[in-house]
Amino acid sequence: MIDSIAHLTIRRPDDWHLHLRDADVLRAVLPDTVSQFARAIIMPNLQPPITTTEQARAYRERILAALAPGEAGRVPAFEPLMTLYLTDHTQADEIRVAQTSGLIYGVKLYPAGATTHSAAGVTDLLGRCASVLEVMQALEMPLLVHGEVTDPQVDLFDREAVFIDRVMIPLRRAYPALKVVFEHLTTREGVQYVRDAQGPVAATITAHHLLYNRNALFQGGLRPHWYCLPVLKREVHRQALLEAASSGHSRFFLGTDSAPHPRGAKEQDCGCAGCYTARHAMALYATAFDSVGRLDQLEAFASLNGPAFYGLSPNSDMLSLERVDDLVPQQLAMGSDVLVPLAAGTSLPWRICAA
Ligand code: DOR
Ligand code: ZN
Repeated sequence: MIDSIAHLTIRRPDDWHLHLRDADVLRAVLPDTVSQFARAIIMPNLQPPITTTEQARAYRERILAALAPGEAGRVPAFEPLMTLYLTDHTQADEIRVAQTSGLIYGVKLYPAGATTHSAAGVTDLLGRCASVLEVMQALEMPLLVHGEVTDPQVDLFDREAVFIDRVMIPLRRAYPALKVVFEHLTTREGVQYVRDAQGPVAATITAHHLLYNRNALFQGGLRPHWYCLPVLKREVHRQALLEAASSGHSRFFLGTDSAPHPRGAKEQDCGCAGCYTARHAMALYATAFDSVGRLDQLEAFASLNGPAFYGLSPNSDMLSLERVDDLVPQQLAMGSDVLVPLAAGTSLPWRICAA
C-alpha cells in the first residue's frame, strides 16, 4: 500500500539469492539481511562448497546460531532456505535426501570457472548431470542457474545470451517440467527468454543491475566495487530489466546476490567479483522502482512472486520504507576486516523505517 508519496508499506520481502559466507563474515553481514527480509535463499559457494544435505544442515545451524538477539533480547525470526552446489559428481540419491530433509530449496548450477568459488562447478550439464536433473524434475526441486557460458572465445558481455542458446534451451527441451530460476538476470535477451518460455521458469534480478549500467564500472576511473558477475551491461539491458521487474510479471522476483568481499580482495590487480548490497537492499530496489514511477509493483516483485514460484506462503508481517535521504557509509566492519558497500558515500532517497 502506498499511503503517501513519502511512505511505502509492503509485505515483508524475501531475498531469493544471497551470499552469507561463514564464521566472522556471516556474523557481520547477517543482521543486514535480517533487518529487512524474512527468508533468503542461501548460496552454497563456500570453500569447500556445500554439496550434501548434511553440510547444508550444519551450515543452516551456523546461520541460525549467528542470529544475534535484538532489543528486548529476542532473536529475530529469519529462515535460511538452503541450497546444494551441483558438481559433475552429484548423485541422484543426494537429491532425494535433500528433498526428504525439507531444508533444501534448490540446487545451484555454477558452470565451472564462471565466477567466485565456482571451480568445483559443472563442466557439462547435460552430459554429466542427466540422472540428477531427471530426479530434480520429478521431485520439483528447482535448479538455480548461474547463466553464463565460460568459453573464453565468447565476449564477456555476451555470455548470458550465448548461455541461453547453448545450455538453457537444450536443458529445458530435455527437462520441460524442471523448475528453473535464471539467477541474476542481466540482459534483454534473458528477459525475453524468461517471459516467453513455456513451463516453470523464473528469474531473480539484483538491485545493482536495475540501477547501474556498465558505465558505472568506469566512472572517473576503474571502480572495483561495481564489478560483479554477470557483469553490468549496456543501458538497453538495464531498461529491459527495470521494465520486467516493475511490470508485475510473476516470473521476476528479488534476489540481491549481495556478496561480501573484504575491501582488499576487491581493490587489487585481480579483484573479486561481487557487490555488497544487503545493508541497503530495499532502499536500492525502492529507488529503482521509484525511478520509473512503479513503487506500486515493488511488493509483487519483492514479497509475492518469489514465494509463489517456490510454493511458499508470502510473509504475514510488513516492512515500511520512507522517503528520507540516507547516506551509504564509506565502509562497514566485517570481522577483523572491512567491506565497501555498493554506492558507498552516495545518498539514497529511501530507507527502511525502524521496526
Ligand atoms: O559477483 C558475483 N559474486 N557473482 C557470483 O556469481 C558469485 C558472487 C560471490 O560469491 O562473490
Ligand atoms: Zn550469487
